[in-house]
Amino acid sequence: MVTEDKVRELLNDIEDPFLHTTLGETGAITDIRIKEEKHHVSVKILVGKTNTAEQMQLQQEIVNVLKSAGAATVGLRFDQLPQEVVDRYSQSEAPSQQSSLLDKNTKTKFINIASGKGGVGKSTVTVNLAVALARIGFKVGIIDADIYGFSVPEMMGIEKRPEVVDDKITPVERFGVKIISMGFFVEDNGPVIWRGPMLGKMLTSFFKEVKWGDDLDYLLVDLPPGTGDVALDIHTMLPSSKEIIVTTPHPNAAFVAARAGQMALRTDHEILGVVENMAYYEVQATGEKEYVFGKGGGDKLADALDTEVIGRLPLAQPYKEEGVFAPAVYQEDHPLGDAYDDLARAILEKYMQ
Ligand SMILES: Nc1ncnc2c1ncn2[C@@H]1O[C@H](COP(=O)(O)OP(=O)(O)OP(=O)(O)O)[C@@H](O)[C@H]1O
Ligand SMILES: [Mg+2]
Repeated sequence: MVTEDKVRELLNDIEDPFLHTTLGETGAITDIRIKEEKHHVSVKILVGKTNTAEQMQLQQEIVNVLKSAGAATVGLRFDQLPQEVVDRYSQSEAPSQQSSLLDKNTKTKFINIASGKGGVGKSTVTVNLAVALARIGFKVGIIDADIYGFSVPEMMGIEKRPEVVDDKITPVERFGVKIISMGFFVEDNGPVIWRGPMLGKMLTSFFKEVKWGDDLDYLLVDLPPGTGDVALDIHTMLPSSKEIIVTTPHPNAAFVAARAGQMALRTDHEILGVVENMAYYEVQATGEKEYVFGKGGGDKLADALDTEVIGRLPLAQPYKEEGVFAPAVYQEDHPLGDAYDDLARAILEKYMQ
């Protein structure tokens, strides 16, 4: 098991991402505690600036280093270095002028995927619509804005983690889609500890500190269910974003979903249309449609929001594929893969109108 000295030695040469000075030099490594019997190491790290995407990256790096050295679990706390230390090591740092997705003249089109309640298939729709748009040939990204309930990495079977180049996070790419999710920064599916103000910051850094490239055509934002803070933040952050509302076919579900839509309308966000998910189940033997979750919800919602139903997606599981693990991605030759291609085209048409 590692000793306190060893921990220091391992972490000394890692750089503070803001001060570009080693943790050893800034005196960042404090409060090392080692629980021998549990192989647990906890450390408090003082950094130039807390609660940033860089801090998450640093967190990952430290955890990896300590685990490679034999720690079974690692507890990390971050705090701010004293101002005089920060001043001593800060270079006259010009704010970075890199182009950001949030710039007014960005050519990227933002599509928020919203719903009134959870579990209706927002993330499934986000993921498969993104894959379908990429299949057509567009450059597509996904922001999993469901900070607490992130699910995109798992749905797409992503095991890689983002890398940092020049203080920017490189999103992970799968099926031609670039993805960023809080899930990439949480260890072993542990609970997310960011709260309140940090949440808004995380979202902003997903836009600003992620290297999306200059040529992203579509960025899909998987919203958490309902009309909470995150949805509101996104609406404020992306005034030009458009919205897809996902609902199940049950008339009551449509009633709840209407609230999410009303919020989009109140904040002046155009609604591209309603997607009715789990619309029916097709009995294989007879080809008959069974309306397991009721009928009419999509139309009712579209009426209420003065828009139209742009997709009705049946219940189905993706094919099982040898060697490819992506539990929620429908293959191109799957009936639902087809349905998502149609949905992608319906959306492209909306943009051309
Ligand atoms: N058309 C479908 N056929 C079969 N299963 C589906 C379909 N759409 C979604 N599911 C399944 O339903 C569950 C919920 O879907 P999903 O996670 O996409 O919903 P969500 O609205 O994003 O939920 P949350 O509010 O928890 O984020 C998942 O297990 C998903 O695989
Ligand atoms: Mg979801």
